[in-house]
Amino acid sequence: MTSARQPFLALIFDLCKQTRLFKAIMVMLSPLLQTLTSTHHIRTKQPRHVVEQVYEKSMEEFTAETRAVFEKPLSLDRLLDYSDKLQKEYKERLQSSNISMLPSYQHTLPTGLEKGDFLALDVGGSTFRVALIRLCGRKENGESEIQIRRIRNVVIDKKIRDLKGQEFFDWMAERIADMLAEYNHMNGTTDARLPMGLAWSFPVEQTSPRTGKLLAMGKGFCATHGCEEQDLSELIMRSCRRKNVNVEMRAIVNDGSATLVSQAYRDPTARMSLILGTGMNAAVYLPTTALARAKFGPRPAAWFRSAAHVLVNTELSMFGKHTLPTTRWDDALNAAHTLPDFQPLEYLCTGRYLGEIARLILLDAIASAGLFAGHVPELLTEPYALDTRLLAAFEADPDPALSTASATFLASHRLPPSAPAPRQEDWLFLRTTAQLVSRRAQAYLATALHALWRLRTREEGLEPGCDGSAVSIACNGTLAEKYPGFLQGTQGVLDALCGEGMGVGEGGRKVALEMAPESSILGAAVAVCCAE
Ligand code: GLC
Repeated sequence: MTSARQPFLALIFDLCKQTRLFKAIMVMLSPLLQTLTSTHHIRTKQPRHVVEQVYEKSMEEFTAETRAVFEKPLSLDRLLDYSDKLQKEYKERLQSSNISMLPSYQHTLPTGLEKGDFLALDVGGSTFRVALIRLCGRKENGESEIQIRRIRNVVIDKKIRDLKGQEFFDWMAERIADMLAEYNHMNGTTDARLPMGLAWSFPVEQTSPRTGKLLAMGKGFCATHGCEEQDLSELIMRSCRRKNVNVEMRAIVNDGSATLVSQAYRDPTARMSLILGTGMNAAVYLPTTALARAKFGPRPAAWFRSAAHVLVNTELSMFGKHTLPTTRWDDALNAAHTLPDFQPLEYLCTGRYLGEIARLILLDAIASAGLFAGHVPELLTEPYALDTRLLAAFEADPDPALSTASATFLASHRLPPSAPAPRQEDWLFLRTTAQLVSRRAQAYLATALHALWRLRTREEGLEPGCDGSAVSIACNGTLAEKYPGFLQGTQGVLDALCGEGMGVGEGGRKVALEMAPESSILGAAVAVCCAE
């Protein structure tokens, strides 16, 4: 708010306010500005001992403004337009990109007959999973079975994410050693040697079915520091050898590809997968002709002779920068990120970022509209301190008073003792914020998947809507599994896009999202068989 006595300055200030960068900076600085400038806003309408805080706007105005910037870009015609633009982006990167649309060495899908015991690793954004997996092959009832005989989930917290280079792989080797010891104990052996498969939740430039160059890692990891472009398999095996861990790396796949191959072991029609957790990604089984030859790098001629299709790690998170509209809070998150613009779709849609977007909105509402009477709850000024699970809690709370969700919020983000008790409208605003952020994420994800399905359909020489074009997408990840209504909401938008987009309306579901729990860790084992 500026003084009327300075129209020229006010005009300049207003003109500046129109720039996105200025808005992003203002979002970041709003708590500080609120504190520094609050003296200007205090008016003594009552006796001196009581002062009233006056804000730039009311909570109703702030809520309406927030709703508008989140919902306006989500009309069906706009989403279909984004899908067309994303399809063009995908085609460009299938021709030339060294960090997305990455072809694996996997050119066959499992038959479901494969058998054996494997040690499987799954390095995710927040969990490292080590498991003993048994592929049982096809049973009399025609179903192929995979058993998890042992599994350990190890939390990856900031301390582990901060491990640099070989330290991170030494940490992995210790957990692998523990699981191998369990295998020996279960089997009465002392020095069993297990084939191992790795599902790696980051981009890798595959140089063989069991090797690949380490590429940039998002999600706040530092393991690449000093190891960029080194072979991932060798980094892990070097640590295992140092600790006398008797394993052999036989397959490395991206977690998206692992999810697809494990679903294909049980469902021969599987052709696409979605990872939706801390990060996001999709894998798709495409004709090799969909990619430029240069994308494959130096491969034996025999590989090309036998490969009609190839499993592609799309790194879908890296798309959308020039297509999907963002808000000033998204721009502030991106501006403050260690890897700005690296994964635009991920920064708008996943477990690591939905809470952060909401945190920036809440700080803005506190400073400019008096949410929580202008008081900042504990930790809320700390980047990534607002957990996406809290948004889920506000969406899931059946109590109109939001008593459970608000108590959960205050347990992590206490208000200062001097603050008045939060009003019902404060909690309702928090739930509205959660809904706006998560529904936009669902719409953008559905649009990105619709674009990938349309591209795959075209590359297979099919017409969208004809029988062969229908696919099921194997889904895995904590957001898909645990955020209430998230997958269903994404499916709803997908149905609308597929129906409207082709003008066929009904005619059955063209793209079905199907949960495939544990498919990433299972796929690490299945990938070993495929690699053979
Ligand atoms: C990130 C990684 C990608 C991974 C995804 C899901 O986007 O870049 O490789 O598949 O997270 O874990």
